[in-house]
Amino acid sequence: MAVSVIIGGQWGDEGKGKIVDLLSQKADIVARYQGGPNAGHTVVINGKEIILHQIPSGILWPHTNCVIGNGVVIDPRVFLEEVAFLKDQGVEIDDRLLISDRAHLILPYHRCLDTASEESQGSKKIGTTGRGIGPAYMDKVGRFGLRVCDLLDEQHLRTKITDILARHNKVLESIYNCHPIQAEDIVEQCLAFAQSIRDHITDASVYLNQAINDGKEILLEGAQGTMLDVDFGTYPFVTSSNPTAGGACIGTGLGPNRLDHIIGIVKAYTTRVGMGPLPTEFDAKFSEHIRQLGGEFGATTGRPRRCGWFDAVVVNNAVRVNGLTSLVITKLDVLDTLEEIKICTAYEYNGMVFEHYPADLKVQLGARPILEKHPGWLTSTTDIKSWENLPHNTKSYLNRLSELTGVKIGLVSVGPDRNQTIVVP
Ligand code: GDP
Ligand code: IMO
Ligand code: MG
Repeated sequence: MAVSVIIGGQWGDEGKGKIVDLLSQKADIVARYQGGPNAGHTVVINGKEIILHQIPSGILWPHTNCVIGNGVVIDPRVFLEEVAFLKDQGVEIDDRLLISDRAHLILPYHRCLDTASEESQGSKKIGTTGRGIGPAYMDKVGRFGLRVCDLLDEQHLRTKITDILARHNKVLESIYNCHPIQAEDIVEQCLAFAQSIRDHITDASVYLNQAINDGKEILLEGAQGTMLDVDFGTYPFVTSSNPTAGGACIGTGLGPNRLDHIIGIVKAYTTRVGMGPLPTEFDAKFSEHIRQLGGEFGATTGRPRRCGWFDAVVVNNAVRVNGLTSLVITKLDVLDTLEEIKICTAYEYNGMVFEHYPADLKVQLGARPILEKHPGWLTSTTDIKSWENLPHNTKSYLNRLSELTGVKIGLVSVGPDRNQTIVVP
């Protein structure tokens, strides 16, 4: 029995939802540990697509228990919509979903602050999902955020929301020229939310540690990706949490020695949504070509994703900061029709070669990728079920990715469906 962490090895949208769903077949518990409704995790079952934002992707298997850890920021409105959507799809949640009493809430003022801040930045904006993520985590580290446990005492809740709004309304009115938000509206929303989740609230750290002691199989589902990590990503063009393996401990209340496998999910190429550096980015025409082939449009915002070649500097950053123990390569099939495929092995900037992802944004933006060329395989891989049956050039490409990153590839995904996955021997 083991604890496995599923981590995005690039800028998010690597296909974590598909892989978590697949591995959930053999898991007892699936837990989210950071992020919030900025995530969009797609699971496709027999051609039917389900996108999850806040509830762990393991919920689609009836035998799993799912946990929203303390590191997650929860938007009550999005959460309740998601529960209703899942019920509509015939997914019974009942007592299978637990919510940490220490998780922080995203409330309407966070979304207003997120949008207003982005608008005020003009061309310097981050390109956030507009879901209030940054402002909610700012309240958390500012030490005045509202936590799930605060929902359980109405008088305390009312006082706390009044105090929080006294701060935020000043900013909304005087800096962003927005209307103030009424405390009573927020209190009502919170009380309604408290009513519907009361029975799901628990000390998730106690629950998860006990589950490990009992020999349960646990998956920790990361959101976003390593390059969006607030410490190790393309700062400031990042999210406000730690999607990396350390974040899995902080966001669940599990000690580092409890983690057994750290699985990095990476696309066979690279994408990102929003602003910021993407050193291997294609020109507009080729980007559009790959976007159409790969359906590269955001699962949360619908925005077109920017596309580029596989970047070993980026993935090696993920290997190092997460201590990845294996890789899953996704969306290999998207490259099926290309005559030539490139891999970035290092960057060149001002006559210097960078093998490790640089901290300086100026270098990240000006970095010229050093690319090596590989012949394409010009064969459809979507129906291939075994490693042996993959074309020679496909195996060479995958072997090279493994060689450059120094990590074994465990699975290769050749389509969105659960069954379009190859186990690497
Ligand atoms: P996540 O945020 O990491 O869970 O990824 P998203 O769900 O945002 O984006 C991944 C997209 O690629 C989704 O539309 C998936 O259905 C799709 N997908 C996942 N794996 C594959 C694959 O191997 N091939 C293809 N063609 N699509 C895939
Ligand atoms: P999943 O879990 C891709 C990006 C946004 C923006 C930056 C900050 O589906 O992989 P935020 O709203 O978090 O403050 O936005 O991070 N971003 C994602 N990009 N996949 C995601 O999640 C993302 N979540 C946030 O586009 O650039
Ligand atoms: Mg996504």
